[in-house]
Amino acid sequence: MPMEPMLNSYNDNSAIQETCQTVGNPILIDMATQWADGKHNGDLRFVRIADYGCSGGRNSVRPVRDIVATLRRRSNDIRVECIFEDLPTNAWDLVIEQGGRLTSDLPDLQVLCAGSSFYNQVCADNSVDLAYSYVASHFLSQPQPLSTHVMMHESRNGEKKTWEKQAADDWRKFLLLRARELQHGGKLMVSTMSRGEDGYSWKAFSYLVWDAIQCVHAKGGLTKREAEALCIPACLRSEADIMAPFSSDPEVQAAYRLESLGFSRTSIEQENSLPKSELASLLRRRTESVWGGMFITTLMNLGRAAGSARETMNQVWDLFEEAVGKDPNNGWRDMRFFCLQLTRN
Ligand SMILES: C[S@@+](CC[C@H](N)C(=O)[O-])C[C@H]1O[C@@H](n2cnc3c(N)ncnc32)[C@H](O)[C@@H]1O
Repeated sequence: MPMEPMLNSYNDNSAIQETCQTVGNPILIDMATQWADGKHNGDLRFVRIADYGCSGGRNSVRPVRDIVATLRRRSNDIRVECIFEDLPTNAWDLVIEQGGRLTSDLPDLQVLCAGSSFYNQVCADNSVDLAYSYVASHFLSQPQPLSTHVMMHESRNGEKKTWEKQAADDWRKFLLLRARELQHGGKLMVSTMSRGEDGYSWKAFSYLVWDAIQCVHAKGGLTKREAEALCIPACLRSEADIMAPFSSDPEVQAAYRLESLGFSRTSIEQENSLPKSELASLLRRRTESVWGGMFITTLMNLGRAAGSARETMNQVWDLFEEAVGKDPNNGWRDMRFFCLQLTRN
């Protein structure tokens, strides 16, 4: 089963993901500056930028604006082609709307949409100058069976092993495919959720989702098979996971120069002053807009009609909201993430 996209509500509920950009966009600006510095002025006529895993496009607008503004300070009439990539089933109408906003106030900018998995080659060989991927590459190419939890990191009974292999293979594949697409001297930033000794941003609430699924199953709302199949095909990588191909894989080592790897934690300060019930509802929407589509798709793949899958998942999310309301600190309150900056050799 391929990974499914976020729900259409992602754009409206993706403010926490955007907080990564406080750290990531200055890196993109540096990348653009260095890339332009490596060119003679006469060569600064065209740049191709790729954004991998754009979802509804809301969080793609600022990075593109920042990169374009940086490049235009060097060459006012540089033509920009920007490729927004996500799965074929993505909410492309929303991306086109966001792209329209960009093209209406940035002259000489073209936006193209690529409906393809980033575990496939998306752009032609040696064709991309600057690329980034925000909050997407923790999603794996496919889930493995996982019956003891919704997250691989919390699973038991040796289930984690096959997931770890999949995650390592996917990471290597993602890097090598981007290396094919990048021009020599081209630059890539990958930023997404990470895992550290202090845990990870999805840890506490993954138990609430798991408990809610078990509760709906116990009441007969989900069969055993369905409850066991509901999981999130994602690996929130540790520093060792991220670095592994750079220290042990000759192809990855040959493809890239590692410029920097940093870890950060961001949050939305104003949320602290919200009343508990309002915060619980916000945290439900935040979680549901990222995880909900995958669960609905899993249920439909097991034979449920769409309406029934939605109704059942509503029961799960109602229970989740109730649990988060008791202690919002168990909800998705921060982004623990990494920013990896690479140059194509
Ligand atoms: C949480 S959203 C991130 C969107 C945006 N980049 C941001 O920073 O808010 C993750 C996106 O990754 C996409 N995604 C997951 N697996 C993918 C794959 N194999 N190929 C392309 N996109 C994928 C999902 O469809 C989703 O739109």
